[in-house]
Amino acid sequence: MPTSSSAPGKVYLFGEHAVVYGEPAVPCAIERRATVTVAERGDDRQRVSAADLTLDGFTVEYGASDDAPDVDVPTPLVEAAMGYVDAAMATARDAADRPDAGLDVTIESDIPLGAGLGSSAAVVVAAIDAATRELGVDLAPEAIAERAYEVERDVQSGEASRADTFCSAVGGAVRVEGSDCRTLATPDLPFVVGYDGTSHDTGELVAGVRALREEYDFARDTVGSIGDLVRRGEEALREGDVAELGRLMDVNHGLLAALGVSARSLDEMVWAAREGGAAGAKLTGAGGGGCIVALDDGAGAETALSLTPACDESFRAELATDGVRAE
Ligand code: PMV
Repeated sequence: MPTSSSAPGKVYLFGEHAVVYGEPAVPCAIERRATVTVAERGDDRQRVSAADLTLDGFTVEYGASDDAPDVDVPTPLVEAAMGYVDAAMATARDAADRPDAGLDVTIESDIPLGAGLGSSAAVVVAAIDAATRELGVDLAPEAIAERAYEVERDVQSGEASRADTFCSAVGGAVRVEGSDCRTLATPDLPFVVGYDGTSHDTGELVAGVRALREEYDFARDTVGSIGDLVRRGEEALREGDVAELGRLMDVNHGLLAALGVSARSLDEMVWAAREGGAAGAKLTGAGGGGCIVALDDGAGAETALSLTPACDESFRAELATDGVRAE
């Protein structure tokens, strides 16, 4: 019997990039999920099919020892996706102590790829959960989060925080500071997402901030200021003060722009959402292109985004209280 698991994507309320340097961040899981189905095979081969990833789907079939799968899609896309899926399957086989288990893996996702909504973390978390359960092992969400973090860290050459993977595994709003990960009680947060239809390279953007931080004191200070802002944001969350959360999101966007990770499309969407009545708006994730998140309990921000040429798609995103779950 194949085993299916799903895991949610996320938006950053506060703190992306600074979290890489040990500052706190507050990501929130949203109801856009990746679903991974795993079936054990009778041999030691792997087969991975991805459908509906908001990019062209593909199928790859190869033996455990082959290093060059023969597929008819652009190599960088396959390499990027396969890096995460291969590493997720390897950690699942390790957890189940079944190094030679052959697996068929099918991925579906309604989270745009590389757009700041945590698509890779959701796929990795769901893949580890489905594969371990298929091989007869039940891991707690926290254990899945830790293995998923190691996968992201290795695939992204050491540059990853625990924020995306922990948030996707446990759901809800979370606070991550280094290896200290916990869930937060939050008021109902009226998230609106604007998506410019493009994707970014998280590794490149993280490297850019690292270089800026090494060269300029202002960039070090900016990372520290984002940390201060997150701590103020936590107070506003405790008090359920949405107006203050919005003000702090606006400042967080400005600080991220100072670190060079905004883009014209992101700035245009942020301004459209604010002018449409949002309490605040900011880019979410690595930046460079992709998504913004706004807080708006009316329809104004979503309407304003839908009328903005830079915005390809806008939608309301419910907080996902479930993290990884069996489907
Ligand atoms: O754009 P995403 O979803 O890959 O988010 C990246 C968030 C960063 O803080 C920039 C990097 C990280 O690993 O936390």
